[in-house]
Amino acid sequence: MKFSPKKIWNDSIKIIPGGNGLLTKRPERFLPDGWPTYYSKAKGYKIWDLNNNLLLDMSLMGVGTSVLGYSNEKVDKKVIKSIKKGINSTLNSFEEYKLAKKILSIDTFADQVKFTRGGGEALSVAIRIARAATDTKVIAFSGYHGWHDWYLSANLSSIKNLNNHLLKNLKPLGVPKGLKNLSVSFEFNNFDQLSKISKKNHISAVVVEPARFNYLTKDFVNKLNKFCKKNNVCLIVDEVTTGWRENIGGIYKKIGLKPDIVIYGKALGNGYAISAIVGKKKYMDAAQDTFISSVAWTESIGFNSALAVIEEFKRKKIHKKITNLGKYVKKNWKKISEKHSLNLITSEVDSFPSFNFTYSKSKNEYLYTLFTELMLERGYVASNIFFISSAHNLKCIKKYLKDFDDVFSKISISLKSNKKILKSKVRVYNYNRLTPS
Ligand SMILES: Cc1ncc(COP(=O)(O)O)c(C=O)c1O
Repeated sequence: MKFSPKKIWNDSIKIIPGGNGLLTKRPERFLPDGWPTYYSKAKGYKIWDLNNNLLLDMSLMGVGTSVLGYSNEKVDKKVIKSIKKGINSTLNSFEEYKLAKKILSIDTFADQVKFTRGGGEALSVAIRIARAATDTKVIAFSGYHGWHDWYLSANLSSIKNLNNHLLKNLKPLGVPKGLKNLSVSFEFNNFDQLSKISKKNHISAVVVEPARFNYLTKDFVNKLNKFCKKNNVCLIVDEVTTGWRENIGGIYKKIGLKPDIVIYGKALGNGYAISAIVGKKKYMDAAQDTFISSVAWTESIGFNSALAVIEEFKRKKIHKKITNLGKYVKKNWKKISEKHSLNLITSEVDSFPSFNFTYSKSKNEYLYTLFTELMLERGYVASNIFFISSAHNLKCIKKYLKDFDDVFSKISISLKSNKKILKSKVRVYNYNRLTPS
């Protein structure tokens, strides 16, 4: 029997609002017509779709989770062993304690750790802790930090407040109006904006991502460190996407940020759900006074997977391999785009490099979709962002770049001749209502 991913997705939209649990896995974000959408098996950097077609993942790698590749043997082995021993009981998992000890030996600024499953959930815990410890009214932040009320409430005063932070025009529907002006956003790397917010409000916590397209600049990092120290502000560094890619731990070490709390997620469990809030006792201790607790945070799969990931990072220096491959990919994207006279910029970030076309918004969206469509025809799951994993290697990346070159040549010819060759509808990147088509 041949599966129709489009049919299944359309039916899924009827029974699961939004079709699934994560915006970033919607087919509309990549290729509205023709995207494989569902997988039957994933191993290394390879994915098999429902019809058993082999696809090479040169894009999101499980949305940044699978830093060691899909179904990594070492991680799976440890997890399977833990499943066989029972992943839950009335008593605690010893691995929760072991993982806390292990992380504290890496993040030496910190004294205490708490674990959750999701990254946004971990951020929510950190915000509660910071508010409880400091009687914080206003949180200043830049970047994307999940779906929770504290974050979305930034859009209560204007639906555009989050527009520079990954997702545009997010409606704060269902978020209590009483949270208005309690979370205030500033642009990535813009210390002047943060300064202005702090003059008008009593800020007690600042949340930043250390990198996204670019890294935080030295200047911003120095000013932010000084500002937080001088004003006794809790500095929360969100490493949900950046952690366990360029360092054993977080990118904060590489760029000199001095956090009070660091949040890990995604890569920490290589796809198994585990996130960590790692911080100074001064703040973390407040978690004893405010009520934070969940049964789902105590099952042992997440702890075991994270222990195996950390072991692999230490054993194989995974971060070095990933950043080197990332540098190579970026250099070649640039070279190929110049060869075909296509205008694009590449990210400063090495371990999950991305490129952006620099035409009009509608032309850019058309080109991203066309790129994905043409790469899919050549057997790739590809987009303008590439989360490199340790399962990738120079050989597979060279083959990918050869096909990338071929695809860019086709795109360039079609642009020069003003011919629209895209078969699918153009992708829809931002959050919107889905209706079955
Ligand atoms: C920096 C950052 N923080 C928080 C989150 C939310 O994590 P999750 O989707 O696991 O809730 C993400 C997810 O992409 C993220 O990139």
